[in-house]
Amino acid sequence: MKILILNGPNLNLLGRREPSIYGNLTFDEFFESLKKNYPTVELHYFQSNIEGELINKLHEVGFSYHGIIFNAGAYTHTSVAIGDAIKGIDAPVIEVHISNVHSREEFRHVSYIAPNSKGVIAGFGLQSYELGLQSFL
Ligand code: DQA
Repeated sequence: MKILILNGPNLNLLGRREPSIYGNLTFDEFFESLKKNYPTVELHYFQSNIEGELINKLHEVGFSYHGIIFNAGAYTHTSVAIGDAIKGIDAPVIEVHISNVHSREEFRHVSYIAPNSKGVIAGFGLQSYELGLQSFL
């Protein structure tokens, strides 16, 4: 099973960025442990701060991978183009968030990803990604 974890803007700063909300672990550290715990899954990871690069990645893997676990960061709340890209591909997408976006500012309650996703997982820290992975298994 081929799965992509796709991270959007500012998620390269995990471990340093607002640790009270996003924790102290870097994504690379978390990703290494995830790969060890799920050796039978072919796990890939891509992060970009650039909207078009995220769309290009969705197009690149969206017709051959089994699923995409996607944290679009702030683009979740703004990007019609990313929502359209998800609509245009075959691979199912799970929207994930580290924080519980629904307990935060109102602008974070809007998602252009959710209506085009198989499901949404938010508020479980980095474990949100693992729960997304388990849903594909
Ligand atoms: C986030 C929540 C978004 O609102 C925010 O812009 C992020 C991270 C999360 O994982 O909790 O960058 O997607």
